[in-house]
This record gives sequence, C-alpha cells and structure tokens, in this order.
Amino acid sequence: MERSFKGKTILITAGPTYEPIDPVRFIGNHSSGKMGFSIAEAFAALGAEVYLVAGPTNQQTNTSTIKVIPVTTADEMYAAALQFADKADVIVYAAAVADYKPKVVADQKIKKAGNELTIELVKNVDIAATLGKQKKPGQFSVGFALETNNEAANAAEKLQKKNLDMIVLNSLRDEGAGFKHDTNKITVIEKGKTTAFDLKQKTEVAQDIVNLVWERLHG
Ligand code: PMT
Repeated sequence: MERSFKGKTILITAGPTYEPIDPVRFIGNHSSGKMGFSIAEAFAALGAEVYLVAGPTNQQTNTSTIKVIPVTTADEMYAAALQFADKADVIVYAAAVADYKPKVVADQKIKKAGNELTIELVKNVDIAATLGKQKKPGQFSVGFALETNNEAANAAEKLQKKNLDMIVLNSLRDEGAGFKHDTNKITVIEKGKTTAFDLKQKTEVAQDIVNLVWERLHG
C-alpha cells in the first residue's frame, strides 16, 4: 500500500517558547525548531495538510500545504494548538515548552540592584497533557522526551501521563542528538514496543517518525 497522508490534517508544535521576565528579558531554551519543521515537511511530502505552531525560530518553509502559526509563549502555543486540535488526525508535540513562567512580568526593565535577584515562577500549561485529556477517538499523538538521565523510564512515564500513542526519546547524552544540531538520534517508545534508530539527519529522522506513524495507522 502506498504511503500517503492525503486528506489528513496534522498539527505540530515546534521550537522553543520564550517566557518574558520584563520588556528585554525572557526564559527560553536552545530549541532551533529544526526537528519540528523537518517533521512538518515529511508529512507535507506525503500529501498532508499541516498546521505548524512554532515558537521563536529562524526556520522557514516554502511548502504551501504547511501553515506556520508563529507564537512566543507557552500560553500562546497552547491557544494556537487548541484551535486546530479538534480537526487534527495526528498531533506531534516537538516543541520544547518552558515548564515555568515568571509569575509577574515587569512593565519596565528590571534594574540592577543588590547581589541577588529572585524571580518567582509558576507552572505553565502542559500542552500535550491537556490536549491528551480531550483526545478525540482515532486521533494519533506523538510526544517527544528530551532527557539527560534515566531516559527510557522518564519517557515511558510521559507516554502514559500525557496519553500519547508514541514518544520519541532523544538524549543529550548522545553526541549529535537533541537541540540545534542538524542530526538526531532517537528511540521511539510505544506501549510494549521500543524501536531504536541510528544518528541521522533530522530530515531523515522525521521520515522515520512519519513512516512509523503511517504504519501504526495502517498496519
Ligand atoms: O528544535 P531542535 O533544535 O531541532 O531540537 C529538537 C528538540 C530537542 C527540541 C526535540 O527533539 C524535542 O525533544 N522536543 C521536546 C523537548 C521537551 O521539552 O521535552 P519534555 O520532555 O520536556 O516534554 C515532553 C513532551 O511534552 C514534549 O512532547 C513537549 O512538547 C510536551 N510539553 C512539555 C511541556 C509543556 N508545558 N507542554 C508540552 O506540550
């Protein structure tokens, strides 16, 4: 059977989120958006219509079937994802979302004073977990887990907690994996099944993920 996602709608989150501290500073992370954009291209290449909710990134696409929705904060990413979640056949959470945000965003630039500065943080919405609770029948969801230790156990816990069908583990302990690089090394964990892949270009990693999703939907 020919692999195709024609007629299918895919929602993808990609890139980092920036959580403002004051008008000039934010809490962010090293995500470049490369992994999420590569997954969007791989789905689009197989005929899908893609909604790509992207945090601040230099990545771009000229593919007409990928609609990029640029966002900055986790709250904005959640609001945008929520808009498309209902019509998505597949959701891929590739974004590195800040788990916490400053409780108060200062109106003016915070001035240097004293030797210590404490910024109080509050929990951000967990986009994957929240949308996982309202997953519609037949919808297939793929999360990512970026880990530094106890990788497989942490990823398996996220798979279950966020009601995902599949979680893509990448570890910062593997050279060339995770943030920024053009390459990644992934292990895909499903209920009762683990599939490990070699270090590859993110474009190829994206194809591996898309192929696996297709197999699970049609196998
Ligand atoms: O963008 P690149 O530079 O190419 O790097 C790719 C990547 C390393 C960012 C990507 O491969 C990756 O691992 N993305 C997930 C990073 C992450 O934040 O993982 P996590 O283990 O903290 O989160 C688990 C899952 O929940 C992820 O699918 C995440 O998108 C989602 N999540 C987490 C927190 C939150 N508030 N909302 C979420 O949706």
